[in-house]
Amino acid sequence: MIYLDNAATSWPKPPEVLKAIADTMEHDGGNPGRSGHRLSISAARVIYDCRGKIAEHFNAPDPLRVVFTANATQAINLVLRGLLKPGDNVVTTAMEHNAVMRPLRFLEKQGINLKIAPCNADGSLGLQQIIGLIDTRTKLVVIIHASNVCGTILPVAEVISTAHQNGAPVLVDASQSAGVVPIDIQKCGVDLLTFTGHKELLGPTGTGGLIINPAFDTGSLVPLILGGTGSRSESQEQPEHLPDKFEAGTMNVIGLAGLSAGLDWIKIEGIEKIREHAKTLSAALIQGLSVIQGARVFGTHEPASSIAVVSFTLSGKSVSEVGFRLDEEYGILSRVGLHCAPAAHRTLGSFPEGTVRLSPGIFNSMEDINKTLKAIQKVARS
Ligand code: ALA
Repeated sequence: MIYLDNAATSWPKPPEVLKAIADTMEHDGGNPGRSGHRLSISAARVIYDCRGKIAEHFNAPDPLRVVFTANATQAINLVLRGLLKPGDNVVTTAMEHNAVMRPLRFLEKQGINLKIAPCNADGSLGLQQIIGLIDTRTKLVVIIHASNVCGTILPVAEVISTAHQNGAPVLVDASQSAGVVPIDIQKCGVDLLTFTGHKELLGPTGTGGLIINPAFDTGSLVPLILGGTGSRSESQEQPEHLPDKFEAGTMNVIGLAGLSAGLDWIKIEGIEKIREHAKTLSAALIQGLSVIQGARVFGTHEPASSIAVVSFTLSGKSVSEVGFRLDEEYGILSRVGLHCAPAAHRTLGSFPEGTVRLSPGIFNSMEDINKTLKAIQKVARS
């Protein structure tokens, strides 16, 4: 089997991640921040450690401003539904995932004004395409860091700078880039950054979160869920302090133990090395696909301006047939269709059929890529 669906979730996970999950289940089985006994304290330490490691990975100055959620979608909803009110002006892009688009369309029906910056047919965003939409009345700019459909990286640093000149905060959806592209919160000045733990950060599903820049005032951000935090239990009101304001309910201790181990693994391996590996494999995929008759590759075709997410179609074949045959006949696992991102597919010109998406990860080899290209060639011919 060749797993090329790391953009959906990374697999396999490093053995250290599996071990951390099992060890935590066995040795740190209390409810964190609740009971005060040794198992509760050791569970709390697991979460404390993970918060610190996330802050370190993204160079976020304050670990208490790392809020854990069940996934990136929940973190994005926390921001959009907690911040935006009828009449607010919001700017986003035509490459967003439904994790952003669906809450924004929902809020649009309730009265927010949504402006969507068009993107180019390779998924890239020119600054001129978005600058004119941002002004001093903009309440929030929402932008995906790297496309989950074609891998194109968007110019988030420049967009943040433009937004800040207009006094508007920026939410960056780093679901696809976190763990493969270095992100420095202090350097780029992003106000709100959402991430998932189960993709390139190599943790398990059920983990994700929001990093809040100290410059962002959380006073007007309404929590998505309310409830017990283990703190200020004398009060029936949600605490205002972070991260408790946004973290009601028992936390995913074992998931965060796995995420910590994933972050350790990335630190030891080195994110630059991981990025280079991704570039090498995606360059080989793009090059190999370009010589297969009838293959059309989407995106910039430039590994330097993309992550390792390669979408293609074969003329005369449906994407579902290609994906099915790759799996059934060659054991190659891809994801076909619209990848929960219809806006991005419209931009790329691949709507409504979608594409076949190949997303190699750190555990894929050049041999995997060569075998995959040979298999695609055979599928294209028959
Ligand atoms: N958003 C994930 C993907 O692109 C699940 O497959």
